[in-house]
Amino acid sequence: MIGDTKVLFSGMQATGNLTLGNYLGALKNWVNLSDEYLCFYSVVDMHSITVRQDPAELRKRARNLLHLYIAAGLDPEKAVIYFQSHVSGHAELAWILNCFTYMGELNRMTQFKDKAAKHADNINAGLYTYPVLMAADILLYQADVVPVGADQMQHLEITRDIAQRFNKIYGDVFTIPEPFVGKAGARVMSLQNPEKKMSKSDENPNASIYLTDDPDTIVRKFKRAVTDSEGMIAYREEQPGVRNLLDIYCACTDHTPEEAVNEFAGQGYGTLKNAVAESVVSVLRPIQERVKELEKDKAYIDRIIKENAEKAEYYANKTLRKVKRKIGYPDRIR
Ligand code: TRP
Repeated sequence: MIGDTKVLFSGMQATGNLTLGNYLGALKNWVNLSDEYLCFYSVVDMHSITVRQDPAELRKRARNLLHLYIAAGLDPEKAVIYFQSHVSGHAELAWILNCFTYMGELNRMTQFKDKAAKHADNINAGLYTYPVLMAADILLYQADVVPVGADQMQHLEITRDIAQRFNKIYGDVFTIPEPFVGKAGARVMSLQNPEKKMSKSDENPNASIYLTDDPDTIVRKFKRAVTDSEGMIAYREEQPGVRNLLDIYCACTDHTPEEAVNEFAGQGYGTLKNAVAESVVSVLRPIQERVKELEKDKAYIDRIIKENAEKAEYYANKTLRKVKRKIGYPDRIR
């Protein structure tokens, strides 16, 4: 809470190619939230180095993600859009919180287990304490709410546990964050396996629509999307492929599933696929155009980067000063 405004924090990694799932499931909804909350949207580049990165590539992708935040409609004068690595308080608080987190807790994190299995040659301590850095992100800004997908819920829970543990010892230092409940983002599934979430790390490029895909590619991928042999357009669990197409269509056109089912009643899957592709193209086209413009406007983006890092730092330092005092670090003499 800052004044009587609630604080919201969320972040995204700049690794991999962002998908339609990232946009419809998260980014799109972030836009509406900046009216109601003081929003911090971080490009979490510190989390990214828990797996090996090519430096030039990481630098480029991080900046691209910032462009995308703005192109998707976030107002950088209002929401604090910034790079995590620009605010050293994240690292400082993460260290402190590491000392208030049990290995037993971290051992239970399912994402760590998954990632450790995937990167068996680089199971580093950063990957292990990833949730603690995430807790630091959130607690540093005294966030009241955090919009997260189901895959990050366990990390939000550990954040709450760490904050409560700290508060129990030192008094009310941290706001206990709640998961954001509100109009949930669309859950977009893989086009090749509709039982699985659409993921930027999917090895099959036909499974995901990337935010950078051109119209032809989008149409082609939807044509190949896995459906079923029922031969009817209905919104039901037994037809996950068709349901996913309808969900995407609804998220892009702001229709309800009922409306969409009525619209396509009696039509073939081909018609549905084309309509979905078209709706996606019209959502992505203006975003892609805006990204291109922003790429050319270096001075503007540089100013945003500088000003928002300063803004974030201001709030971060407030919390950090309090925390350092509470835990007994000697006062700094200036
Ligand atoms: N770990 C999150 C993800 O991969 C990104 C993230 C980092 C985040 N810090 C955060 C999300 C704080 C919400 C709040 O999706």
